[in-house]
Amino acid sequence: MLNMASHVWGRSRVLGASGTNRLDFVVVCFIFIFFIMTHTRQPDHPVNPMFVNRWSPRSLTGEALSKEALMSVLEAARWAPSAYNAQPWRFIYALKDDAGWAGIFGAVNEGNQSWAHRAGALVVVASAKQALFPGKPDLTPNAWHSFDTGSAWMSMALQAAQSGLVAHALAGFDPVKLRAAIQLPEDYALEAVIVLGKQGDKAQLPEALQAREAPNARKPLSEISFAGTFKG
Ligand SMILES: Cc1cc2nc3c(=O)[nH]c(=O)nc-3n(C[C@H](O)[C@H](O)[C@H](O)COP(=O)(O)O)c2cc1C
Repeated sequence: MLNMASHVWGRSRVLGASGTNRLDFVVVCFIFIFFIMTHTRQPDHPVNPMFVNRWSPRSLTGEALSKEALMSVLEAARWAPSAYNAQPWRFIYALKDDAGWAGIFGAVNEGNQSWAHRAGALVVVASAKQALFPGKPDLTPNAWHSFDTGSAWMSMALQAAQSGLVAHALAGFDPVKLRAAIQLPEDYALEAVIVLGKQGDKAQLPEALQAREAPNARKPLSEISFAGTFKG
């Protein structure tokens, strides 16, 4: 794209920028700006770039992840905030070639398996549906177990990105198979499977996924935030 723009720009100057060449240049600029706007992420307000630069690629190298790298990602999740500090999140992991890998991978749906087979580790994120709250002698339903565990997932994702790794969440799995594979008790909810690995060449992806292998956009802040009262 840049080559194309500089080519047209160069041609306009050499030929004395005739009307046609100027039009060429404007069209190429328009395409270039459109491409940048739709293929990169532009925050509307200042934020730490880590929020905007994290995304969920599917192209992975297939390299095994070290235990240290995995623990670093889980450590970040451990420090997430939670209601009453109940810490409802649980992580059941398998590094590539671990005994637990086949069970987790086998529960992931076919579409996701088509790219997740190149992961370096798989992490099932689960959450305890009940907690011991202050002043209550017994376990009580915890209304925030999923909300809090979502925070922990985001910490994982951001740490993974900081460590140069991909962390891609999946909900496309068979919950009955997955629960059985990791022997998750009924009082824990299955939240997601996280595919961890190193980013690879997108040419290795099935064709349909290659076209989608780019950071996506977000709704404008005005559509999701309201002063005072909800305005849907
Ligand atoms: C709970 C959850 C479930 C998801 N399930 C899938 C999935 O089954 N397959 C997949 O390819 N991506 C899945 N994704 C990834 C989302 O499509 C992705 O996060 C979203 O499009 C935003 O893109 P980004 O993460 O690159 O910013 C899931 C993400 C989350 C948080």
